[in-house]
Amino acid sequence: MRRKMIAGNWKMNNGPAAAEDFVSALEEWFASDRGGKRSADAVSSGRIEIVLAPPFTSIASAVAARRTNLIDIAAQNAHHKRGGAFTGEVSLPMIEESGCKYVIIGHSERRHVFGETDDALEKKLIATLESGVLPIFCVGETLDERTSGSMEKVLSSQLTSAWSSLTSDVIGEMVVIAYEPVWAIGTGKTASDSDAEDACDFIRTLAYDKFGIAASDSLRILYGGSVKPENSGALLAQSDIDGLLIGGASLDVEQFEKIIESAL
Ligand code: 13P
Repeated sequence: MRRKMIAGNWKMNNGPAAAEDFVSALEEWFASDRGGKRSADAVSSGRIEIVLAPPFTSIASAVAARRTNLIDIAAQNAHHKRGGAFTGEVSLPMIEESGCKYVIIGHSERRHVFGETDDALEKKLIATLESGVLPIFCVGETLDERTSGSMEKVLSSQLTSAWSSLTSDVIGEMVVIAYEPVWAIGTGKTASDSDAEDACDFIRTLAYDKFGIAASDSLRILYGGSVKPENSGALLAQSDIDGLLIGGASLDVEQFEKIIESAL
């Protein structure tokens, strides 16, 4: 059984005070009878993992606001070098020291708004795997790529380039892949359950072809793109979808709680 991951990507939202309020509210809910205790039990028993990815400047307050070990924290990006003259960048050792377990690498906004290339993302993925932080590596096609029938080609080239030098045990135990079709992000257009499942199944087959059955069976694959409480349960019911990477709906603590409950 792969452990389900419910991850909120706050993007450039929630400063330190809002991050503290959110984490405190979620902690209170975990202690409450409003579905929280049942969710906390699912996290404690290893069935679900809850991750929040605040912007860099809110990581410290999110970490400090935790009262339990039910919530893991992720950074949204990292530089591949451990230190040096890179103004405006943040290194993996800093992210680890600040209390993060995960880092999101290659989010579509990093690829398409900030121009991060497959080569740059391969370096980031390898550097992450050499650090004490684990990667949530994002892939996904644009609307043009989907409508022209090249979704599989795009996913394949993004992944082949990123994981070319990795080994089976690393893929199976350390890497989380997030399939986020660019056309579904922040648009209100969720991929249908079967489109999302088909893409995640395709990714698992690519992993099987390169790394074999054990690694592809344990690889966790998330779906992201306009996930809400109304569609999260059906997406999570798909056999190759092991969790969700949530943008907008993760900014509202009640919606995020409902999405967690849909994973129980
Ligand atoms: P939305 O849930 O707002 O579409 O964002 C998805 C996303 O990009 C998560 O990383």
